[in-house]
Amino acid sequence: MLDEIVETLDPVPAGWVVDATVGGAGHSAALLQAHPHLSVLGLDRDPRAVSAARARLESFGDRAEVRRTRFDGLDATLDELGIAEIVGFLFDLGVSSPQLDEGGRGFSYRHDGPLDMRMDPDSGPTAGDVVNGYPERDLARLLTQYGDERFADRVARAVVEARPIHSTAELAELVRSAIPAPARRRGGHPAKRSFQAIRIEVNQELQVLGPTLDQALGRLARGGRGAVLTYHSGEDRIVKQRFRTASGGDRPTPPRGLPVEVEKAPFALVRPATRSPSQTEVDTNPRATSARLRVIERVAS
Ligand SMILES: C[S@@+](CC[C@H](N)C(=O)[O-])C[C@H]1O[C@@H](n2cnc3c(N)ncnc32)[C@H](O)[C@@H]1O
Repeated sequence: MLDEIVETLDPVPAGWVVDATVGGAGHSAALLQAHPHLSVLGLDRDPRAVSAARARLESFGDRAEVRRTRFDGLDATLDELGIAEIVGFLFDLGVSSPQLDEGGRGFSYRHDGPLDMRMDPDSGPTAGDVVNGYPERDLARLLTQYGDERFADRVARAVVEARPIHSTAELAELVRSAIPAPARRRGGHPAKRSFQAIRIEVNQELQVLGPTLDQALGRLARGGRGAVLTYHSGEDRIVKQRFRTASGGDRPTPPRGLPVEVEKAPFALVRPATRSPSQTEVDTNPRATSARLRVIERVAS
């Protein structure tokens, strides 16, 4: 949904845009190319993404800055750089193609590798710690919550019985055999949902999203816009709720006929409320299938 994102940030005033998930800087480069009035601060917790983004954005000189941090370090990074206000933000959540494609990172059920899945390889527990260490009921809960896995109890039981599990190939096969045969044939690879759930747990992906959106909204200048691309329902729910609250959607409607003055909300949703990728995009990039884009604008101080 690159074109939609570039287009949505077209009308914003001149200034800094935060790309909170800069990855390989595909979005950042397109923004800088299309909008000479914008500069981009890219953040990523993955040191390899930071190197790739720096290399990709080098030609934009001081219009681009890339920092390694988890995205809830947004406020601290802006303070460090002396940037008080931003005119845009972008979150393209989840895992990147290079992370998935490199078997050694342990994100993929398609490539054998260690049970790692950490976006930041220098901190936090690994997928191995989750898979081999969590109590069965906690495993089942996270497979349901973060993976919408219908057979979470069966998968969790199979995992606990097979411990210790050493590799992604071992885990993928274990999940596949725990799912009843008729269900294996539906909804893509049978280990897809479990791998997504474990990755979300390892990287604590949902815990920092809401507070970081609040930081980004708090920094947004009038006329500035924020765009968030999500890939599963748990993420989308958080974004929807945050944007709804910011745009006054939670406020009670005043009783009809009473002369109540309603204060204007500082943000407005940019319609349509959600956008999905075109069929052509889904055909060329299957990962985009579940993508949802939400955009918000600051309309008052
Ligand atoms: C889907 S990719 C972004 C791809 C990017 N838009 C591009 O054009 O190449 C998501 C990136 O966000 C990073 N990421 C995810 N959650 C993060 C977090 N909480 N803090 C910092 N980086 C995060 C990942 O390491 C990954 O590189």
